[in-house]
Amino acid sequence: MIRVVFNQKGGVGKSSITCNLAAISASKGLKTLVVDLDPQGNSSHYLIGKAVQDIDHTLFDFFEQCLAISSQRKTMEQLIQPTPWDNLHVLPAHRDLESLEGKLESRYKIYKLKEMLQEQAKIYDQIFIDTPPALNFFSRSALIGAERCLIPFDCDAFSRHALGQLLGNIDEMRTDHNPDLTVEGIIVNQMQPQAKLPQQLVRELLAEGHPVLSVHLMSSVKMRESHQQNKPLIHYVPKHKLTGQFIALFEALSKE
Ligand SMILES: Nc1ncnc2c1ncn2[C@@H]1O[C@H](COP(=O)(O)OP(=O)(O)OP(=O)(O)O)[C@@H](O)[C@H]1O
Ligand SMILES: [Mg+2]
Repeated sequence: MIRVVFNQKGGVGKSSITCNLAAISASKGLKTLVVDLDPQGNSSHYLIGKAVQDIDHTLFDFFEQCLAISSQRKTMEQLIQPTPWDNLHVLPAHRDLESLEGKLESRYKIYKLKEMLQEQAKIYDQIFIDTPPALNFFSRSALIGAERCLIPFDCDAFSRHALGQLLGNIDEMRTDHNPDLTVEGIIVNQMQPQAKLPQQLVRELLAEGHPVLSVHLMSSVKMRESHQQNKPLIHYVPKHKLTGQFIALFEALSKE
């Protein structure tokens, strides 16, 4: 299964959700790959730690090779990096990815990621793609290459208004490029159960027929700590409530 985690809004939990679902998947014995399409490289850093700075085999090489600029070709096996955890691999981002965007766009390389993902799906049981907070070449490539889309939602009134446009953009990608793409669900993140506004927003979304997933993710400082420790929650605080919510979310997704 190839899943993309996308929301063009920044800071809603894309990288946190990508890495934590992937780590749970791997801990269950599924061969799992995280593809980090965000030049900020937060997922790569989360899963590999500081050592990520020294890696000179990244998605940059893949996209550069799509443009056939580079003479030395690196295989996908060389680009995909191990993490400290069994069954969990990452295809790291690179801060210079954006410098390739114009050329990739003008030379119609938007389907290249899909071809590569389909090859990797023969090797990996689960692929999770993290995206930048923008509808650009990289996130559109991911929406074309994925089978399912997860949308993190931060219960903010502003995000609620942007959701219509976001779902419209995904619909357009489906119609024009990827009929296989399904919106698997909206993931309510950083839920504060005591606060009234988030609950009201969720009720409104459900009333409008939006596919809000029933497992909500609470807000916890453990998330920030787990980023700092470069340890996904399942390894950092396996018994924490937020970890339990992630496990329930993963199980709800794999049931479908
Ligand atoms: N459930 C949560 N509880 C507490 N903090 C959270 C939670 N989810 C995410 N965060 C924090 O919110 C911040 C943004 O999360 P994250 O980096 O996952 O978002 P993002 O959508 O990937 O951001 P960007 O758009 O910049 O890539 C991080 O500092 C993260 O630790
Ligand atoms: Mg991110």
